[in-house]
Amino acid sequence: MVRYVLGLNCAYHESSCALIKDGELVTAVEEERFNRIRHAKPANIDNPYVIPVNSVRYCLESENLKPNDIYRIGFSLNPTKRARNRHIKDITIKGGWGTLDGETTYTRLINSVPLVLSALLATDVTKRFVWLPHHICHAASAYFVSGFDDSAVMSVDGIGEIDTTFLSIGRKNKLTQLPGSMQYPNSLGFFWEKFSKYLGFSEYDASKVMGLAAYGDRNVFFKKMLTLIRYRSDGSFKVNNELLRFRVEDYRPLEKLFGPRRLHGEEITDSHKNVAAALQAVTEDILLNMVKHLGEVSNSKNLSIAGGVMLNCVANGLILDSGYFDNYYIQPASNDAGTSVGAAYYIWNHVLGNENRTTMKDAYTGPSYTDSAIIDALKMQNLKYRESKNIEKETARLISEGKVVAWFQGKMEFGPRALGNRSILADPRRKDMRDILNRTIKHREYFRPLGPSILTEDAEEWFEIKKRQSPSDFMLVTYKAKENKKNLIPAVVHEDGTSRIHTVNKSNYKYHKLIVEFKKLTKVPVLLNTSYNDSEPIVCSPKDAIDTFMKSKIDVLVMHDYIVERRGQEYAKKDI
Ligand SMILES: [Fe+2]
Repeated sequence: MVRYVLGLNCAYHESSCALIKDGELVTAVEEERFNRIRHAKPANIDNPYVIPVNSVRYCLESENLKPNDIYRIGFSLNPTKRARNRHIKDITIKGGWGTLDGETTYTRLINSVPLVLSALLATDVTKRFVWLPHHICHAASAYFVSGFDDSAVMSVDGIGEIDTTFLSIGRKNKLTQLPGSMQYPNSLGFFWEKFSKYLGFSEYDASKVMGLAAYGDRNVFFKKMLTLIRYRSDGSFKVNNELLRFRVEDYRPLEKLFGPRRLHGEEITDSHKNVAAALQAVTEDILLNMVKHLGEVSNSKNLSIAGGVMLNCVANGLILDSGYFDNYYIQPASNDAGTSVGAAYYIWNHVLGNENRTTMKDAYTGPSYTDSAIIDALKMQNLKYRESKNIEKETARLISEGKVVAWFQGKMEFGPRALGNRSILADPRRKDMRDILNRTIKHREYFRPLGPSILTEDAEEWFEIKKRQSPSDFMLVTYKAKENKKNLIPAVVHEDGTSRIHTVNKSNYKYHKLIVEFKKLTKVPVLLNTSYNDSEPIVCSPKDAIDTFMKSKIDVLVMHDYIVERRGQEYAKKDI
């Protein structure tokens, strides 16, 4: 009998649902793509029962399942373990995280999830529902889909229940905790959230801070940074939460050390850049120490990685080049979205004892749409379109002529990176393309880097890659561009000479062919690739794609083999 296991995450944010069938990953989707709210919901005390209803429904529909076809449901947080926060001495706000009242409310509400899910599915699922430790789910989301027979595993985030860093070892179908895990308040994730806000961004803007770090001098504030976080050669670290005050909006101690807090919209000064650079520097030190320590204690050649902090692609680049392990795997949705995948696999492999293993080689696990659904959506907006007989060749020509192209194909990606199915593409040879995209299309800060998609077979010729590893397939690692190449692709090489590369092989046939056609025209096997969105979540459906196209200044929309050019459309006449 076929057995299905569902994984669910809505403990804090990045709500998601994943479905596995006899151990094979069938579907993994993030709720934000359906409800069109970034991160699906804020990480509030009063909303853990808000389950990702659209994602759950989509998972069931994708296999034509009835609720009773689901054998087990894994949830990526253990409420009992979370209650340990009540006993930590901390600076808190009344009724907030870490207080008796706040944590009691959270526990009560999260405990209602099995009943809420039962009501949604109109059947009692409470006996099939399994609470799982959050970091076990992060770790499982990487190890059980890594393809490794054994692997050290590291998971680093803001907070699970109380753990913030979790070290483990995977051997065949078992995952076992190693010594060296860390608990709140020693949290790299919260450390970054606090500095993101100090620098005038939101707690979700770690990637902006990382981008900004390339412009700063890491030595200016390095010593001051060490008054906030101390670390040892075994990868352990201790934060000074007397000064950081993670659970309150108080930045006075940071202002004493680094100067006034930047408010949103204010000018970014050299001082801000230097703070970002020092933050990146200590983070790299800590993570490299942790990886070295894991290399020494794990007796494995392989390392699997997950957790929101591990979206730091600059640190990942250093880890992959460190030589502490031979092979690396990073879960493409290493933020909390990926814990639904981990919850399902932990149950399948570890709890149920199944020995069959799988490898998550790509992140195309979301919805796809038919040609007729696309045509219907285009007709709904009275858009003129044409069908191309060779869409890759024609699109490559348009990009080489300077057009910004929205590219919508096949199944939507899982995780924060667009990997050529919901992407905005442009010519990387044009230096001004980065400004055009940041300023007029994505409405982002000038310093935000844009990444390249490059043919896998050409990656080592263009970038300083010692040994190519799968994380570059998920755009999770930066490499230095080669000296003789970087001036050929200025739009996708960052201030520090690195690029967050996305290697593309023939498994995404259409996208690979598009880059091959671009290479034929330009001798450059690279496209500028950024996610298809403008402030909102990445587009999911043809309707989302069309809405974003029409409100933006994107020149061309390509959906399957259909081409829509902005020029000549009724709605755009006033702007052209
Ligand atoms: Fe997490």
